[in-house]
Amino acid sequence: MFPHDRVIVRRGPESGVPIIVAVHSTALGPALGGCRMKAYPDWRDGLEDALRLSAAMSEKCALAGLPHGGGKTVVVATGAFDRDAALRDVGTVIEELGGAYWTGPDVGTGPADMLTIGERTRHVFCRPVAAGGSGDSSPATAAGTVAALRAVCGDLPGRSFAVLGLGHVGARVARLLAEAGAKLVLSDVDPARREVAGELGADWVTPDECLTAPVDVLVPAALGGVLTAEVVPRLRCAAVAGPANNQLAGPAVADLLHERGILWAPDSVVSAGGVIGATGAELRHESPAEVTARLDGIAATLTGIFATAEREGVTPAAAAAAEARRRMAAARS
Ligand code: PHE
Repeated sequence: MFPHDRVIVRRGPESGVPIIVAVHSTALGPALGGCRMKAYPDWRDGLEDALRLSAAMSEKCALAGLPHGGGKTVVVATGAFDRDAALRDVGTVIEELGGAYWTGPDVGTGPADMLTIGERTRHVFCRPVAAGGSGDSSPATAAGTVAALRAVCGDLPGRSFAVLGLGHVGARVARLLAEAGAKLVLSDVDPARREVAGELGADWVTPDECLTAPVDVLVPAALGGVLTAEVVPRLRCAAVAGPANNQLAGPAVADLLHERGILWAPDSVVSAGGVIGATGAELRHESPAEVTARLDGIAATLTGIFATAEREGVTPAAAAAAEARRRMAAARS
């Protein structure tokens, strides 16, 4: 079975680098998903990432109640290349899809890059505010993550969190948690990010110590795949909830977490703030207050998934996947 609507792999006509656009589903509406620019050992690794991440976007949009499917762009950024040419190539491929897929920022890209993609297509979110877009999506993603964390552990003051990854989203989540009076353990692979810990008066540890810190909630906020069969037995948190996409190294890891009594909040629900915020501002023309209310709604969505999982005796991962499948199937028929 081929689960994707279509997958395009193209040598960029202007840049020469591999441009991959995976459209997983358009059952609920035009597919959404960011443009990831990253060095991969081989273009096939980029393809695999695009396939997995686009499927996760379908689940994300379906569970967020958005009239959108999932997709993802990967620019295989290995070796020297012309960045703007590669972004224009992304725009060219997206334009050829005629509106079936819209992109936005992701790991390795930001609002300025969306402007460059926008030279070739209008199917792009999060161009800079000065250029008429909704700008940086990380504040919305961070706000949605904090709403999810409230659903996981109730009041934030006095709770402890280990935030792994202090990029655009992770650093904002850490700041919001510090402002709410939470206790923080922080880490990033980049030692320069230690300044965030200093600024917030938080403990700074190595990524491995962060992963296994004795806290209420582990908050993965960097790249995917951190929760492996080897890591789960070493965890000392009560719950895991963070904005990193595709945290589970494989589907069986959800069962391992469940067996250890660790509550896992599906990242497809936790990380939906970016798409909720960008589509709210740019397509639905919602006011900031309406967007904030929608972001807070992530808490209720998550509580619903936990309740379904409990009632049906399945993991939150299984409950989330089943609900997303149900919504997509209902739209198809
Ligand atoms: N990186 C975002 C995500 O994973 C993608 C995105 C953001 C797409 C904003 C559109 C608008 O959800």
